[in-house]
Amino acid sequence: MAVTKAVIPAAGLGTRFLPATKSMPKEMLPIIDVPVIHYVVKEALDSGIDDIIIITGRSKRAIEDYFDDSPELEMHLANGKKEHLLKMVQEISSLVDIHYIRQKEPLGLGDAVLRAEKHICNEPFAVLLGDDIIRNDRPCTRQLIDTFDRYRCSVIAVEDVPKEMVSSYGIIKGRRLEDSLFLLEDIVEKPKAEEAPSTMGAIGRYVFTPEIFDCLKRTTHGVGGEIQLTDGIRLLKDSQNVYACTFHGRRYDTGDRMGYIEAIIDFALEHDDLRDDVMAYMRWVVQA
Ligand code: UTP
Repeated sequence: MAVTKAVIPAAGLGTRFLPATKSMPKEMLPIIDVPVIHYVVKEALDSGIDDIIIITGRSKRAIEDYFDDSPELEMHLANGKKEHLLKMVQEISSLVDIHYIRQKEPLGLGDAVLRAEKHICNEPFAVLLGDDIIRNDRPCTRQLIDTFDRYRCSVIAVEDVPKEMVSSYGIIKGRRLEDSLFLLEDIVEKPKAEEAPSTMGAIGRYVFTPEIFDCLKRTTHGVGGEIQLTDGIRLLKDSQNVYACTFHGRRYDTGDRMGYIEAIIDFALEHDDLRDDVMAYMRWVVQA
């Protein structure tokens, strides 16, 4: 069965970005003029996904509004003969059909994924975290689906992270099968550096077989009192193979302030109408 559905959890509290996230979703933070979640949805589409479920929570209405029609704005742009802006706005709402499911309380990433069970209907599916942007010609999710198609087993994307950062990730222990492929032997949520089984951290992209849902239901509250996706994966690997895959691409954790700043600078330098001014400004800042 092909992977055509994706779950985008976006119901977290975003405490690293308070106070901004008190009233706005961190997934809507703009990278110049495009919100983070737009890039995540686009990655799913470019990977062959045509059915997207976004898990939302309180204060997340802006996400639904962003992907919806906006008749008043469209009429205003049409009347003002702003064809280019009108086309841009209309394209966003016609990107794909998106379904929204509320996570009533932010009980953890595992709980957020579990909310999508009824919609997924016993099919394999992708998960893309709503605050991670990954850029590559062949999208990261597509790379995972390719591996899924080969093995028909769950696949998680991993990246070698600095040792001092392992306590922020789910860290894997894996048996290397190929250059970029590991058979998952264990995964531990946010271990201390001295206890981490490796420095390979799970980043925000996954493809799962539907059996992950039963594993998540059997998962008890883990690190931080949350239902951890990592703990669900840990149970899953006991009953079927799970693979971990390094990927091609540049990742920005925009839920982290430094990751957000890096994304803004890199994306600004790619805008023809901004590059020279941004470069000149950065030179001025460095010299001052
Ligand atoms: P994070 O751990 O980065 O999100 O979860 P957070 O809890 O919102 O952020 P901080 O650490 O407090 O700043 C990764 C993704 O999972 C979603 C988040 O919205 C984010 O996209 N998530 C997390 C949920 O949907 N529900 C949850 O209960 C937790």
